[in-house]
Amino acid sequence: MFSANVITFDQVASTNKTAAELLSLSKVDHGTVILAHEQTDGRGQRGRSWVAAPGLDVTLSIVVKPHGLRADAQFAIGKVAALAVHDTVRNYVANEVRIKWPNDVLVDRRKIAGILIKNDLVGELVMASIIGIGINVNNTSFDPELVATSIAMESGNTVDRMEVAQLLLDRFNHWWEKWDRNRGDGLVSYTDRLWTRGRWAEMTLDGEQITARAMDVDELGRLIVEHEDGQVQAYGLDRLRFVPR
Ligand code: BTN
Repeated sequence: MFSANVITFDQVASTNKTAAELLSLSKVDHGTVILAHEQTDGRGQRGRSWVAAPGLDVTLSIVVKPHGLRADAQFAIGKVAALAVHDTVRNYVANEVRIKWPNDVLVDRRKIAGILIKNDLVGELVMASIIGIGINVNNTSFDPELVATSIAMESGNTVDRMEVAQLLLDRFNHWWEKWDRNRGDGLVSYTDRLWTRGRWAEMTLDGEQITARAMDVDELGRLIVEHEDGQVQAYGLDRLRFVPR
């Protein structure tokens, strides 16, 4: 159960960093959660920073040890996390909530949560994984360039962020168990919740603008898209991006 072992800090640089340090010292095990009321150097995808308002948002990292998970199937962890965050946000927000591949969570076009995963690989296996999750809960002032929103902005109400964190961990537990029970396809809901699924959308492929529609994600975590000429191909983030990013 992922809420049974939560280590709470008033302030850390980054919960992912703290989790990595504790993991390297064997001080945390499968299921440990590092939660901080404030991050001074929150990390985002592609080397960006993640800004959360101290005492207003959810910033936490979950440590998992997914016995026997092959490195080429590691995207399952991202699906578990995205589904848990999606469930959590949807609980508070009436507008449509979607997962933007690979694992952003959006309300319409506005980003409400981000996920940063670091997997420790040994040979062909994922030995441990740190899943950092940031949810904008009560913050209501964002740089307009970020195109961001929060639960408070969407719902019109301030909410108890520790209750949000608890729900997130409950939903993470749900999806983790669902996946872990059969290691097969317990996570098909991810596909249904994909942003722009089945709709023509602007993307860049190797830097060139294209119009394509997202269909699904393959086991390697690549987005399967249909091109305008009907061709179906799977691409990783190294080649394909949504526009705007
Ligand atoms: C993104 O860029 O979308 C990913 C953002 C991930 C932010 C979370 S907040 C908790 C954890 N600690 C970090 O430093 N980053 C992640």
